[in-house]
Amino acid sequence: MKRLTVAIDGPAGAGKSTVARRVAEELGLLYVDTGAMYRAITWKALQSEIDLSDEQVVAAIAREAEIVLDPPEVLVDGVRVTEAIRSPEVTDHVSMVAGMAEVRRVLVEKQRQMAKDGGVVMDGRDIGTHVMPDADVKVFLTASIEERVRRRHLEMIRRGYASDPDRLYQEIKRRDEMDENRSHSPLKPAADAVMLDTTGRSIDEVVSMILDLCRTKV
Ligand code: C5P
Repeated sequence: MKRLTVAIDGPAGAGKSTVARRVAEELGLLYVDTGAMYRAITWKALQSEIDLSDEQVVAAIAREAEIVLDPPEVLVDGVRVTEAIRSPEVTDHVSMVAGMAEVRRVLVEKQRQMAKDGGVVMDGRDIGTHVMPDADVKVFLTASIEERVRRRHLEMIRRGYASDPDRLYQEIKRRDEMDENRSHSPLKPAADAVMLDTTGRSIDEVVSMILDLCRTKV
């Protein structure tokens, strides 16, 4: 029997990864953070000191890279990059890399491979619309931009980075605009996604709302 598939999409800072990880833990499912995969390719491209706007070269990197997601660890070609892929430098370049059609094709294929037997909670921008259009549960998480900035600010400080809320506001706005307006599988809710505004809601509350949705499917 095919096991449950859960797609969690939404803009930057909406709380997707924290919530998706918890839902996966509660249900004993595999958690796949697809943003980490786009970040991993961006990290490798930055390390390789290539021209990041050269789509052919970045696509070759995506094809060759061996990405391992072993939550919470992320490895690229055997190198542990768990923290490095969250650096401001990677964050500043990731939406450009994620806008490249061939990079998306390569990563989407890997993501579908991971989801093929079900039993997965996957978070990203195009999971319900493109990667797993037949997912059993689709959730689109949102939050006000002020709330998303506040959460990212606290997260950056917790991870030991200097953080400026004004800069974060601009970064999140720019990333959302690039993700929403790219031509290949842009950020948007699937027609059958449940919209969940997490502004002012605790993680526990959001997790329990999603678990309720999952229980209606088993
Ligand atoms: O989720 P996270 O913020 O780590 O994602 C980093 C970036 O990766 C996003 O801003 C977006 O450009 C890209 N991304 C994507 N499609 C996904 C997941 C992430 O384009 N499924």
